[in-house]
Amino acid sequence: MSNTITRKIGLSLGADLCWPKCYEEILKKLDLAIPYDGDIVRFESERVTIEPYSLTQPCEYDVVIDRLTHWYHTSREWIKKSVLMDDLYVYNNPWTLQSMEKQTSYCAMMKLGLPVPETWMVPPKSYEPHADLDVTLERYAQMFDLGEIGEKISYPMFMKPYDGGAWKGVSRVDDAASLKSTYEESGTFLMHLQKSVEGFDRFVRCIGIGPQFLLVSYDPGAALHARYEMKLDFVNEEEKSLLVDMAMTINSFFGWDFNSCESLHRDGVWHPIDFANACPDSQVTSLHYFFPWLVMANIRWSTFCAASKKKMRMCPDWDPYWEILKQDMSYRERLSAYAAIGHQRMETDRFNEFCDQHLTHLEEQTHEFFGSEFAKETIRQKVAALFPEHEVESFTEHFWERIQNWRDNLSET
Ligand SMILES: Nc1ncnc2c1ncn2[C@@H]1O[C@H](COP(=O)(O)OP(=O)(O)OP(=O)(O)O)[C@@H](O)[C@H]1O
Ligand SMILES: [Mg+2]
Repeated sequence: MSNTITRKIGLSLGADLCWPKCYEEILKKLDLAIPYDGDIVRFESERVTIEPYSLTQPCEYDVVIDRLTHWYHTSREWIKKSVLMDDLYVYNNPWTLQSMEKQTSYCAMMKLGLPVPETWMVPPKSYEPHADLDVTLERYAQMFDLGEIGEKISYPMFMKPYDGGAWKGVSRVDDAASLKSTYEESGTFLMHLQKSVEGFDRFVRCIGIGPQFLLVSYDPGAALHARYEMKLDFVNEEEKSLLVDMAMTINSFFGWDFNSCESLHRDGVWHPIDFANACPDSQVTSLHYFFPWLVMANIRWSTFCAASKKKMRMCPDWDPYWEILKQDMSYRERLSAYAAIGHQRMETDRFNEFCDQHLTHLEEQTHEFFGSEFAKETIRQKVAALFPEHEVESFTEHFWERIQNWRDNLSET
């Protein structure tokens, strides 16, 4: 006699509107009842609410898809408690997410040999008040010549916060005069100066959810809704495999199940420039054609983690990566070896088997769902939340059309 067990998946959300509705609806329609380890496993999803809690209060979720930790601390601390005390699996690792900024991600990946452009950190131009500030700076802060640093890095370069996101405080710097004025205006930001990858021919974002990766061509200069480009063949198989191994290395190193890695291609080299993006943009208004992929990937990874009661890796454990670094290998071989640690940690083989056995009808259900009036209404709601009233209809049609393109292409394959 097998028992029926219901696994609960919590959605810890902020302003997200579109993907959760699609996720919930498709999961409901799938109505999964999976034979797993002698039991029948079913799934329920629920939105996590915000309220006071006792530190000893049990957590009712098996998995939480978290979209709040990077800025909403009550939820972050509840998640950390639940991982520690109740075996919750959450994506992403809340401790590394909290403590590891762009700076650490650059250092770690430089150490592993990834070609991150030359990057410097400079002390901030000004400071929030602190009782010990003056004495500390007087004693220890060295005068420095910004122009000299500029020459060492060479122009053009980017000045950007060491912990940045959403383009906040990012400036392109073309010469010594603009380096000086940009620094003068940088206020309390702690800044990086990074050599520009000038004249790149491709800009790619690699979105990862567990061991699933999607490469999208990206135009940073376009309007928000058009940054993800409709190009489908912009990398060859070799490049694809390199970019995926790079993203897997980064994501598994930090314990980020859901992350996006930006790389620029120039003269045969892919330079990663921004890859501490755990919990990246998931909106239909940004992802359009690629949005159904994201919803499906989320369903696959969350149900796998819930069904298998995947154990959360609380401590990152970097020793195996350093071991590979000691070996006599080419960069490409090393990258594969790092990625192999990722596949082991993310249990890629088991995951693929799970999808092949239990989620065979996911694509079909998703295809059907994205032809429904409910899906269109969900897109309209998201558009209405972001665009002025007179553009709501035209942009709803625009994103809807893109998703219908996705459906047509899926039917053809
Ligand atoms: N080294 C570089 N070479 C070329 N372009 C760069 C470099 N660094 C940053 N940029 C440009 O500046 C943009 C913003 O930089 P970055 O991605 O590091 O900051 P961010 O605040 O994390 O931005 P976002 O949230 O949009 O990803 C990039 O999308 C790219 O267009
Ligand atoms: Mg970026």
